[in-house]
Amino acid sequence: MTPETWTAVDHYVTHVLRLSDDALEAALEESDAAGLPAIAVSVPQGKLLNILARLGHARRILEIGTLGGYSTIWMARALPPDGELITLEIDPKHAEVARVNIERAGFADRVDVRVGPAIDALPKIAAENKDPFDLIFIDADKPSIPDYFTWSLRLSRPGTVIIVDNVVREGAVIDAASEDASVKGVRRLNEMLAAESRVSATVLQSVGTKGYDGFAVVLVTS
Ligand code: SAH
Ligand code: DHB
Ligand code: MG
Repeated sequence: MTPETWTAVDHYVTHVLRLSDDALEAALEESDAAGLPAIAVSVPQGKLLNILARLGHARRILEIGTLGGYSTIWMARALPPDGELITLEIDPKHAEVARVNIERAGFADRVDVRVGPAIDALPKIAAENKDPFDLIFIDADKPSIPDYFTWSLRLSRPGTVIIVDNVVREGAVIDAASEDASVKGVRRLNEMLAAESRVSATVLQSVGTKGYDGFAVVLVTS
């Protein structure tokens, strides 16, 4: 099995299950045209986020790391008309591309793109004292994953699902001696998950168009 096979299978699954559509394709095309990196979730991963949001009857969703709004649109499609998705993005250009993509997809009314470092936005969200989030997707800078997870727990309730992207890193995650700040961030997350009595968690490896990586899936239990 090779990366070419993984990619071909993602394409096959996308086609046979008709996972994609014009608005999703346009979001990727416009992101590419604007020079954004091609690091959005894959089509099948996007559908998984959508299904998880629907499974949890999500009304409030938090995303950390917007890029061009591709994963945002997948999750926003699970929201009821009065639902809300807040997505955090440090790069104003990414945020602007995302706003256009989100508007084209029909979610300008439900999606709030906030520009700036996520670590500054999270305390502000907490201070707004709104209802906890039902689903949280952590997908920004990897060294900060432990901080984002801590804030995510504060913004959760029992039943909230927290997904963290890029936690396998081509297997680099098993290197305890790694000096890579992203690997260190992911390993610290795993230690936190192990020590935290309020969550039940697993890590799922994946291959596909994005290579070899994985999601952490965390259920807040109390
Ligand atoms: N979730 C997106 C992909 C996000 S890529 C999707 O699947 O479609 C990661 C994004 O996080 C990039 O756009 C990057 O600019 C942003 N980012 C990096 N560091 C950040 C920070 N400190 N605060 C907020 N966003 C950050
Ligand atoms: C990168 C970031 C991601 O969130 C991802 O899924 C893949 C790659 C990156 O920064 O290179
Ligand atoms: Mg990612």
